[in-house]
Amino acid sequence: MGEHLAGSALPANSAATARGPGLTLREQLLADPIRPPEPLLTESPSFEGDEDLPFEPYLSARHAEQEISHVWGKVWQWACHLDHLPEPGDYCVYDVGPYSALVVRAGHGEIKAYVNSCMHRGTQLRPAGSCGFAQQLTCPFHGWTWSLEGELIDVPSRWDFPHVSAESHRLAEIPVGVWGGFVFVSFDPDVMPLEQYLGVLPRHFAEICGEWDLDQRYIETHVRKRLPCNWKAAAEAFIEAYHVRETHATGRPGDEVTAQYDVFEPNVSRFIHTIGMDGPERPVPRTEQQMLDHLTRNIRHGMEPLELPAGLRARDFYAQLTKDTMGAQYGHDFSGLSQSVTLDSIEYFLFPNAFFFPGLSLPMVYRFLPDPDDVDVCSFELLMMRPRPANGDAPPPPQVVELEVDDSYTLASGLGGLGRVYDQDTANLAAQTRGFKASAKAGQTLGNYQESRVRHLQRRVRECIAAGESAAKP
Ligand code: FES
Ligand SMILES: [Fe+2]
Repeated sequence: MGEHLAGSALPANSAATARGPGLTLREQLLADPIRPPEPLLTESPSFEGDEDLPFEPYLSARHAEQEISHVWGKVWQWACHLDHLPEPGDYCVYDVGPYSALVVRAGHGEIKAYVNSCMHRGTQLRPAGSCGFAQQLTCPFHGWTWSLEGELIDVPSRWDFPHVSAESHRLAEIPVGVWGGFVFVSFDPDVMPLEQYLGVLPRHFAEICGEWDLDQRYIETHVRKRLPCNWKAAAEAFIEAYHVRETHATGRPGDEVTAQYDVFEPNVSRFIHTIGMDGPERPVPRTEQQMLDHLTRNIRHGMEPLELPAGLRARDFYAQLTKDTMGAQYGHDFSGLSQSVTLDSIEYFLFPNAFFFPGLSLPMVYRFLPDPDDVDVCSFELLMMRPRPANGDAPPPPQVVELEVDDSYTLASGLGGLGRVYDQDTANLAAQTRGFKASAKAGQTLGNYQESRVRHLQRRVRECIAAGESAAKP
């Protein structure tokens, strides 16, 4: 191995610019018959340095406390979906660390978010993680009651509280905003506007998705699983495609996928990797028929293989098949969609913990949250977002499928064949966490390009902590 590395030593200036062999992803996309939307042809690589990244931020309780104050207490983060709050009076509770937000649809349809803590003696007004309906917000302890607009409207034994007024004891409001059908909150009253925080995300999604942008999709499947690792390690397991060859395929050369990695400052990063193209390192490329057999192995299980019409690429044929099938299933005309938007794994990350996929057949949203008591545990939510029917009547959000650390994702039927793939990812996480602790070196060594998004996430955490600590200095 050492010899191989020495033999392929790269020129000194290549740290930032070295790329794998073969066509770039952009070149692959430009070879597709239907040109993909412009944002997919944009490249924005980021060389984030090549020093080892310390393990300490994954393991230390002190670091987790700093994250609570300076990351989770400061950023925008999605709390729930608008479909959880269709009518005035609908509410959802969102918790992270010690923070708790009560997100409510108020009387005129506007979305409000309150600190979920009673202005009398602090009791949580609604239980952690709950969603429900209330005409007024009454505290379960002594019955103080607020309107949906946060105004204090009833205090039992009013005579005993001459020092309390509707004004002085309004529910504390926190910043709230909506993008793509998701309701975002921040626990920082001085947070920047959501639109600014989201950066390129709304424009890219609008251009990539067109008429079925994220707000035109509904939640078909919602899974929440406990994972045996720090929340950052969990998010980082989904942030690169470098692991595909070993974790998801045979581990042999040729199982690599061509991927592009981008950072859009300050809060967004992205990868795109193609589906239905051979990796450049495959010694003997598959025939197009073999590629089609591979692409359809799940949907054609136990059936006769599909025959590829002469002269067609498997990727193009399979994209058309996908558009036809999903068009019939969801009642839309997807015929104009490019091969890339139809098939590829296009994954946008929004710091600190959310992933949004604009693609048609890989339409996921992820959220990672720290466990409030254990730095070695986190929760991973996985949503499948489908195009709303043309008449706009989407089904209500499904019940969340709750999975424990040892439960297989295949228990969540809505994930189909992807369940097995996610199981392969989980298997690495406990081993990585144990290895962090056993390591003879102080940190992890990362690829300059393929793992640049790991560095971006960690850099943003460090920047938030540094900003918070310096603001706290007298
Ligand atoms: S703590 Fe809420 S009414 Fe007393
Ligand atoms: Fe994976």
